[in-house]
Order: sequence, then C-alpha cells, then structure tokens
Amino acid sequence: MDMSSTVDGLDDPVQRDSSDLIEVDGDLDPSFDIPNQGKILIISRDQSYLTHGVHKFPAKFFPELPRYLIRKYSKTGEFVLDPMCGSGTVVLEAMLNDRIGIGIDIDPIARLITKVKTTIIDPETLNLAALDLTTRIQEFKNNSDQNPLIPEFPYRDNWFRSFVLRELAIINDSINNLLSKHQNDSEWSDIGDFFRVVLSSIIRDVSNADPHCTRTVLRKKVVKSISPGDTYVKFSQKLFHQCDSLAELSEISKTLELKKVRLPVGSAIETGLDNDSIDLALTSPPYINAVDYPRTHQLEMYWLGFLGDGPLSRVKREYIGTETVYKDEYIDLKTSGYEILDPILEKIYTSDPRRSFIVFKFFEDMKQQLAEMFRVLKPGSRYCIAIGNNLIRGVEVRSDEILSEIATSKIGFELERTFFSKLIRHFIRIPRPERMMGEWVLVLRKPD
Ligand SMILES: C[S@@+](CC[C@H](N)C(=O)[O-])C[C@H]1O[C@@H](n2cnc3c(N)ncnc32)[C@H](O)[C@@H]1O
Repeated sequence: MDMSSTVDGLDDPVQRDSSDLIEVDGDLDPSFDIPNQGKILIISRDQSYLTHGVHKFPAKFFPELPRYLIRKYSKTGEFVLDPMCGSGTVVLEAMLNDRIGIGIDIDPIARLITKVKTTIIDPETLNLAALDLTTRIQEFKNNSDQNPLIPEFPYRDNWFRSFVLRELAIINDSINNLLSKHQNDSEWSDIGDFFRVVLSSIIRDVSNADPHCTRTVLRKKVVKSISPGDTYVKFSQKLFHQCDSLAELSEISKTLELKKVRLPVGSAIETGLDNDSIDLALTSPPYINAVDYPRTHQLEMYWLGFLGDGPLSRVKREYIGTETVYKDEYIDLKTSGYEILDPILEKIYTSDPRRSFIVFKFFEDMKQQLAEMFRVLKPGSRYCIAIGNNLIRGVEVRSDEILSEIATSKIGFELERTFFSKLIRHFIRIPRPERMMGEWVLVLRKPD
C-alpha cells in the first residue's frame, strides 16, 4: 500500500539490510513461496489498471500484492473477503481472478468507490449518459437565473472559494436532475453512483485543502491556484477518462465467469456473514495514528450527503484506529495482558496517556476483528493481513508482532508465515531508502 506520505517513522528492516531483498517487477507468480521472514519489493505497474485508479484512497493496496495472495491462497469460484475493503482493490482483483469478491467497509465513501470500481455498465449507455450530463451542466452554467443548491456544512466557505462552491453545486444538481428522469432504473442507479464517484474524485483538488497532506487540512501558506471554470474542466476530463476505464473493464469482463461482487453492509467486527463460509480473507487495516478516514473524506462526505451537517466526531468512534476517545477512558493506564504490547502502552502512557489508550483500543478492536474472521473462515483457510509499524511518541509499535501474538494465543489461528513487503511509488525507478515504505504481511491459518 502506498503510505509514503502518511506514516511517520515506520520501522523498515530492509533499509538496514537489503542483501536478501527479492525484487519483482509487476506480477508475482503464485507458485512462488516468499520465504518466511523474507523481504520482497514489488514494483507496481497496475495502480491505475482498469478501474483501480477511479478515486484516490489513503493507504490503498498496490494491486499486485492482493492479486498474488488471491491466486496463491484461493481457487476459481471461491469466496474472497476484504472486511476493511477501502477503495475495493481486493474486491476488484477477486473479480478479475474469477473469485466471488466480498467487500465490507464502515466508510460510506469507501463503499461507494468499491461499488463503482466493480460494477460493469454498458459502455455505450454510459457514454451517452456522460454526454447528456455535460450538456446539462453547460446549460445550467449559462443560465444565470438558476441557482444551484449549495449544501451547508461546517467551515464551508473556508474550504472552498465561492465560485468553486457554485460550480460543484451545478455539477451535483445536474447529476440529480438527470437521475430524477430515470428513477427505478437499476442501470441508471449504477450510472448515478459512477457520476457521484467522479464528482467526489475532484473535490479535494478544487478545495483549498493542502494537496500534499493526506488529512484534509487548510494551511495559510498553501494558496492553490484555482480559476473559475477549472472545476468543470477537471470533472469532464475525469468523467470521460473513467468512462474509458469502465469500458475496458466491461470488455475484460466478457471473459470472466463471475461478474458480481457482494458488498454487504456491516463492519469488520460484525460482518453478518455465515460461520465457515469464506475461503480467503485479505485486508490492510488502518494504521494506528496514521489516517483519520472520516476526516480525510469529510469534504466528499458533505458533498455526497453522507454526513448531513452534524459533527464528524459522531461517526468517527466506530472506525478501528479511531482517535476520537474520551478523557475518562484514559485516566488510568490500560493494560492488555499481551507480553509485547503492555510495555509499549506503559512507555507511551508516561508522555501521552491519550495516545496510549488509542493504541490499547486499536488492538482490543483488532482482537474482536480477528475473532470474527476466525468465525467466518472455512477450516484450513487463511487470513492475510498487511500491516505497517508505527512510531508513537518515540516508541516503536510492532503491530505485526502484536497481532501475531493475539491471533495465535487468544484466537486460535496458526501463523503460517510472515514477510515484509516493501513498496515504492511506481514512478521512482531506483529505490531510495528514504522513499521506501512497506508493511508486514501475516499469513494466518484457521486449523482444519
Ligand atoms: C488501509 S484502508 C484499506 C485500503 C484498501 N486496502 C484499498 O486498497 O483501498 C483501511 C480501511 O478500514 C476501514 N475501517 C476502519 N474501521 C472499520 C470497521 N470497524 N469496519 C470496516 N471497515 C473499517 C476504513 O474505513 C478504511 O477504508
């Protein structure tokens, strides 16, 4: 996953010793066994392949890693679950490999992107709809008597310039007007979601938020140059580009047996799936302390109507890795009973009791999450988790080791192997230590 701009001070074993690094350009053959404790560097070729690039998403998988794990640990026609699917990389890869992809995420933007990324729409219908939409936007913008509906949300006029607000609202209203003509038509409901994801994908770009920061923040020093009309241009370019990507997916899907994915509503801790029903679970959980997903997507959520005008904190508590915790929860040091974690909690507590509790809560939530995966997996099946390490208040948190301890000592998984997956941004050809990040991949197995 590309965490290059988000995680502070990751532990990086390969940096210290790169002699045994296995370097792979593009796809990794599923018959290859990455050695236990081995280190692999995948140079990604496919970050924007088909619909993979439809929307940015923090800490998104590069497709090659889940593709390898899907091909290695599941068979055609089997069920592959990502319980924290984010933008749906695993779900799309499962579909492209003729597995039944199941994606769950608590974040509404994540769910919408995953749906759009994996829903095939007839290319001709989609192109005509896109042309119709751009004509309507043009007409609306030329009609100065008509006022679009600009949503109310906190600090709206700080986040956006007034002409950008009007332009986004014109696009939004034009989408809604077009959709109202095709109510109760399921293909048009898919087209509507596609338009909404395209709109969402440009919102950060045209806002005043710092483009170099994963979190959505305003910085006095960062003054973006956005001119009247830019929003329409960006939207239209993205719209037709993504129509082409979806047309390519549609073409490839003709060779696939299974074209439907499942996106049940639930959470990673309560999936609602049957016992012993899943052949492979594969995910990358949020990093502790690294990405605040609701905050990162707040502008998109306000525009798409997912938040109303209420405070963000209400939704934040349900995310694994949340930073929204209450004072009375960390008055005392919380201990977990895990050998590796407790000394870490203690050390962080001395300088920052709140952060110590955030770390404690993350692993408590992950314990429940591991138990849920143990319940839904078929005996003998695997749960692959890609997780990075953090430096919190100067204390190294080896999430891979702590999760391994919880999974094996408390839940009943066997730890089959672990390896370190190093990733570089695709446009940097020569690995430079300071730009390389990575994560540990744990391959857990539910015993027969
Ligand atoms: C690292 S991201 C996953 C990115 C994904 N692998 C991709 O390729 O786009 C972690 C995801 O976990 C989700 N998440 C956090 N808490 C969750 C919960 N309780 N249930 C389900 N998903 C959750 C977040 O919304 C976020 O989308």
